[in-house]
Amino acid sequence: MLAVIGGTGLGQLEGLVHERQEPVSTPWGKPSAPLEFGYYHDRPVVFLPRHGDQHRLAPHEINYRANIEALYQAGVQEIVAVAAVGGIDPRLPPGALALPEQIIDYTWGREQSFSRPGDVIHIDFTRPYSDALRQQLLKAADEAGVKLVEGGVYGATQGPRLETAAEVDRLERDGCTMVGMTGMPEAALARERGLDYACLALSVNHAAGRAQPGESIHDSIEATLEEGMARVRSVLTAFMEN
Ligand code: HPA
Repeated sequence: MLAVIGGTGLGQLEGLVHERQEPVSTPWGKPSAPLEFGYYHDRPVVFLPRHGDQHRLAPHEINYRANIEALYQAGVQEIVAVAAVGGIDPRLPPGALALPEQIIDYTWGREQSFSRPGDVIHIDFTRPYSDALRQQLLKAADEAGVKLVEGGVYGATQGPRLETAAEVDRLERDGCTMVGMTGMPEAALARERGLDYACLALSVNHAAGRAQPGESIHDSIEATLEEGMARVRSVLTAFMEN
């Protein structure tokens, strides 16, 4: 079964034919919200809003382990994670949709593994996203007529504050093409549980220091989210119809 994890701007999956909502708990605690089971274009799907109801949870407050464990327990095998990001690469101005290929993790203090004493998990994370799922998403975007920038490096920062311009300069020197706050440890935990995971990233603002003078990051986010997420839904629809 497929899961969609919705980020900022995708607190619910419009078009999901609701079947049931299941509050679940896991040995790691509760996920961000009850799991929403239903059908999206006739395919069974589970939806989980990453930030909880009403966008309650800041990126560092999200119980990523509970979220992934809950989906795993529900029988999920594939996760499409939707995320709003800041664009660093000029190919990712606000409104651009991207399918990152790599991650650099700058987060700290988050519970980042299911490892326990005596049961340490060393995943191969050379390629953090599922190639198979990425190919399917590319094909879906193509079929939906939605432009998807293929590749790129997601820099995962701690937040909740946005970055300084110097921090974004450093991210760029490191090779990051986009910056977000929730990509890790989510992707690594999915790998630990053996789930295929890919990220559909919507650039909603120029990363700090990359905007035109006078351009407000917050105004950009507001102006971009709704229309951008409509394109994300088009890609998901085509994905389901395959
Ligand atoms: N930085 C970090 N996370 C983000 C941004 C950003 O500029 N935009 C959306 N999520």
